Formats: sequence, structure tokens, C-alpha cells
Amino acid sequence: MESFLNQIAAVWRPHPGQRQFLLAEATNRVLACGRRWGKTEACAADVVARLQRGPPSRQLLVAPTLAQAQILFRRVTDLLAKIGCMLGKNEVRRTPFPSVEFEGHSVVARSGHHPDSLRGDEADHVIVDEAAFVPEELITESLWPMLATTAGRLTLISTPNGLNHFWRFFEMGQRGEGGFWSRRAPSRENPRVSPEFLEAQKAQISARSFATEYEASFADAANVLISQENIDRAKVAQLPDEVRGETSIGIDWAQTQDHTAVAVLQGSRDLAYLVECTRVPRGTWQDLVLRAAAIVLRYPGARVLCDSTGLGNPVTDRLRERLPNVPVQGFDFNARSRWTLVEGLAELFERAAIRFRPNPTLESELNAFSARRTDSGAIRYEARGTAHDDLVMALALAAHNLPAESRLGIRLG
Ligand SMILES: Nc1ncnc2c1ncn2[C@@H]1O[C@H](COP(=O)(O)OP(=O)(O)OP(=O)(O)O)[C@@H](O)[C@H]1O
Ligand SMILES: [Mg+2]
Repeated sequence: MESFLNQIAAVWRPHPGQRQFLLAEATNRVLACGRRWGKTEACAADVVARLQRGPPSRQLLVAPTLAQAQILFRRVTDLLAKIGCMLGKNEVRRTPFPSVEFEGHSVVARSGHHPDSLRGDEADHVIVDEAAFVPEELITESLWPMLATTAGRLTLISTPNGLNHFWRFFEMGQRGEGGFWSRRAPSRENPRVSPEFLEAQKAQISARSFATEYEASFADAANVLISQENIDRAKVAQLPDEVRGETSIGIDWAQTQDHTAVAVLQGSRDLAYLVECTRVPRGTWQDLVLRAAAIVLRYPGARVLCDSTGLGNPVTDRLRERLPNVPVQGFDFNARSRWTLVEGLAELFERAAIRFRPNPTLESELNAFSARRTDSGAIRYEARGTAHDDLVMALALAAHNLPAESRLGIRLG
């Protein structure tokens, strides 16, 4: 890397923070830096360096959307052009995905939006730009397996987004676990970011936003609705062998891009156990109804509360038709009802009245779920970034329908 940096010094020089990142030899690198620090730029240099050495490699550039992945891709081709490697030896394609071939090496840009479409691919180096804003499963279930056969590298770069998966990978790097290296740095480390620009930003946005966006702060506790401490307290290795009590099922239908999720709680508002919490594989509405119905039928006597907002309304009707003997209610989401629902769930966590087995997807959704004050002063509950909230909403629906106290009692196993 040192010799590559010397070779291109006439056209591109890293700032000291970028240099540290580029020289880090760890297999997995996590870079948590403020806006405009030069994250994308540093990654482009890293990708180009790989094209200049070693056996033919395949590098994959991923971001939450294809447009974001294209920004990194363009920086790669711009840098290649600048250092004079665009002498007909490489071929840039735009379809089906932006890709460039260079002396047997290839670089492909993909969107992280549909993790399933990335499965089965292989790569020597995967770079995820804005990694705190892609779903955790994209990294663990789609990207990691791509590197398994090649002993390849993983690079995650982003501004922080609360204590989510990106933070956990960052912490692994701080502890030097799992081949991870990590570094955190504020925007001001880039000498091209002027103090005046930072002052102007500071005056315009909240102190919390400034800390996250320009100082790369992970701390976001004030906004977190369900604290890490309460999540940890709710987590148990095993549920009782026999949970008795009423069963309340919440179903959040997939609206535009989320999944359909089903949560099954047993017990009461005094103490409830999450006995099942799943995403239903994507499919037609008919498939979703059949799959959700199959889950409900495993719990005789259960009550069901479904999201019946917009598209959810006719789907809830179909579920009712499918399950004529089950009480299926609809729940109409609006700002106020959503508030009641989510507060109810937060309150269960607060009172330590809920238990669940470790479930990384649910935990990262709970982590990402935050309360945000909108410009009009209203409080909005939402999953930050592109994180999903389908499991949380299914859980909140199930919690809403729990009886105040168990009439049957819960026998602890
Ligand atoms: N080593 C460098 N040499 C020249 N320009 C640089 C260098 N590093 C960063 N820049 C410039 O600084 C600006 C910010 O860089 P870049 O877009 O890579 O930052 P970023 O951290 O990815 O920002 P964002 O958070 O907005 O995505 C860009 O205009 C980029 O061209
Ligand atoms: Mg960037």
C-alpha cells in the first residue's frame, strides 16, 4: 500500500486519518467518521490499490441504495482515470450493474436494498458505504458468506447511527476481535473541511445531530425508546417449558419495503413471553395470508391484532375470511395510535414484564427504534436510517392485546 500511495502521490494524497485506514492490514476494517471526513474517497483509493497488485480480484461496492453505491463507483473510475490507467485496458459497464474490469480484476457496485439478490455471489473484498444504514442481515447473511470461500476482506464505513450493528462491529475492532480493526474520527480531521463550515452546521442542527454527524458519536441514548439495559434485562436463555396464559398475536403486514412480521406473546401485561417472532418470506398477498394463518392456527385460542392501515386493511379482511373462528382485529395506524402502541411496548420493557430468547434481528430493530421530535413539535417513533421496524411493530401489536393480568396464571417451568 505504501508504494501505491507513493506512486499516486502526484494526483492523490490521503490525509493522515485516511493513511492510517489504508495501511491497516486487518481482514475486516470499520471506519466510523463524521460527514465529509473523506470516507468514500479513502475507500475508492483502497479499491484502486487492489487493482494494481496481486492475482485477479473481485471487489463488491455496496450501499443502502444503488445511487449511493454509484457515488463510490464513480470515485473509483475517476481515480483510475486520474492515475492514467484508463488507456483502454479497462472496460466500464453500466448494465446490469455498474462494473469495471481492469486487467483481470473486477469491481461491481450493487444496492444493499434487496439482500436476497446478492446471495450466491463471491468476492475478495466487500466494501459497504453507509454501513450503519443497511440492514444487519445484509452483512451477516449475504455479504459475509461471499467472503468465506475467498478469505476476503470486509470494509464497513459510515457515520454512526446509534448503538446498532455498525457500533457492534466497531466495538469488535476496538477489542481486536474476529480480525476486526476500527477507527473513529471527526469530520475536522479532513483538512478540506473548514472550521467555518463546521461552525455553520453547528448553529443549524441540534447538538445531538452535530455530535453524530460531525463528531462521529455513537451515543444516542436520549433518543432511544427502549434502552439497551432494558433489552438485556428482557433477554433470557430459555423460556419456561410450559408457558400458560393467553396468547396474543401481532401481525405487521409488509407495506412498501418492509417485511411481514408475526409476533406471538403469551401471558399478560404482568409478565409476557415472546414465544415466536418471525418474518414471513416475501410473496403475494395470498401467500402472506396463508403463512400468517398457519402460524395463528398453531396457537388455539389466540387473539390476533393486525396492522389494518392502507393496504393492510384488505389483507386483514382476507385473514379473517381464512380464520373464521379466530378473533382477528385490525389496528389503524396514525400518529396518535402509533404513539399509544409503542409507548405500551416500551412500558412493558420498563417494568421488566417481557422476556424473549436472544434474537439478533429483533434486538437490532429495538436498538434502532427511536423517538424523534419533528419540526412541528410532535414526537414520531421510527426506525432510524433504513433499519426495519416490522418485528418491533408486530411485537407492539401483540403487546397491545395482552390481558391486564393472566386469568390462567403462568406456571414457571
Ligand atoms: N485525500 C483527499 N484528497 C482530495 N480530496 C479529498 C480527499 N479526501 C476527501 N476529499 C474531498 O473531501 C470531500 C469529502 O470526501 P468524501 O465524499 O469522500 O467524504 P465522506 O466522508 O464520504 O462524506 P459523506 O459523509 O458526505 O458521504 C470530497 O469533496 C472529496 O473529494
Ligand atoms: Mg461518503
